[in-house]
Amino acid sequence: MTNHFLDLSDIPSQTLRKILDNAHALKKEKFAPRQILEGLSLAMVFDKKSTRTRISFEVAMKQLGGHTIVMGMGEMQISGAESIEDTGQVLSRFVDAIMIRMGSHETLVELSKHTTIPVINGLTDYSHPCQIMADLMTIEEKLGSVAGKKIAWFGDYNNVTRSFFQASKKFGFEFIAAVPPALHDKCDKDAVITDDPSYAAKDADVMVTDTWVSMGQEGKDIEKFWPYQVNEKLMSLAKPNAIFMHCMPIHQGEEVTDDVLRSPACVIYDEAENRLHAQKAILAWCLKDANVRVKRAA
Ligand code: CP
Ligand code: NVA
Repeated sequence: MTNHFLDLSDIPSQTLRKILDNAHALKKEKFAPRQILEGLSLAMVFDKKSTRTRISFEVAMKQLGGHTIVMGMGEMQISGAESIEDTGQVLSRFVDAIMIRMGSHETLVELSKHTTIPVINGLTDYSHPCQIMADLMTIEEKLGSVAGKKIAWFGDYNNVTRSFFQASKKFGFEFIAAVPPALHDKCDKDAVITDDPSYAAKDADVMVTDTWVSMGQEGKDIEKFWPYQVNEKLMSLAKPNAIFMHCMPIHQGEEVTDDVLRSPACVIYDEAENRLHAQKAILAWCLKDANVRVKRAA
């Protein structure tokens, strides 16, 4: 079976735990990484902007001995008349894995059905699973095992929220999202949702937010989000050692205030760095059948 990394909900808990443990281990090898992806190639396809995802995947592949090819989707024939099936079949003959960032999650899943190589979700409008592996890694570095922790989310219920929610079921932590009432209908049905940010923040171990306007939603009205801004007052309701997280990019003064960003609780740069280590572990798992050396490492 091909090890696609499309959604955390698709992957067994034990497998995700192993990937996360490997991410912690690979971080320890930061200055002398084993060449476990030697000779392997990753195609990275972007239909949206990226800084962290693009650079961390590229550096991860290269530090582990592999190669990357980066394409804007608009430069590829798929943006014209070529079918998803032909794109998937042909890429499968050239490279060992595909990492793709695009709006439509359905198209990503469809592509994975037409490849014989792993497809990695580098963000869709639906989910952002790679981000959450880095986030869980960061939480464990700062606070110990994520199991049993209370993670409180504030603002929009978006792709990052959904992957956090999916992770809560796999890793056994409490996840509560404080979201404006008008958006409750678009939240996952079995997610714990409140319209009260103080209730969500109370005794939280982790306080997390994201932009109120995700890519592709430009022009959206943000007025309803102001009560969900993460500021010092909201942070004071969380546990004394609570951390603040944000996947970045940040819209300072909107979803989070400057004082929170400058406080010792803020771990956003460690979180960003962990994208690199988490991507390595994701790649090692996806590619474990592609190379016997990788098989030994994953
Ligand atoms: N967090 C994240 O995915 O960042 P980029 O959009 O810069 O890749
Ligand atoms: N929710 C954001 C995440 C960016 C990494 C977006 O989709 O734009």
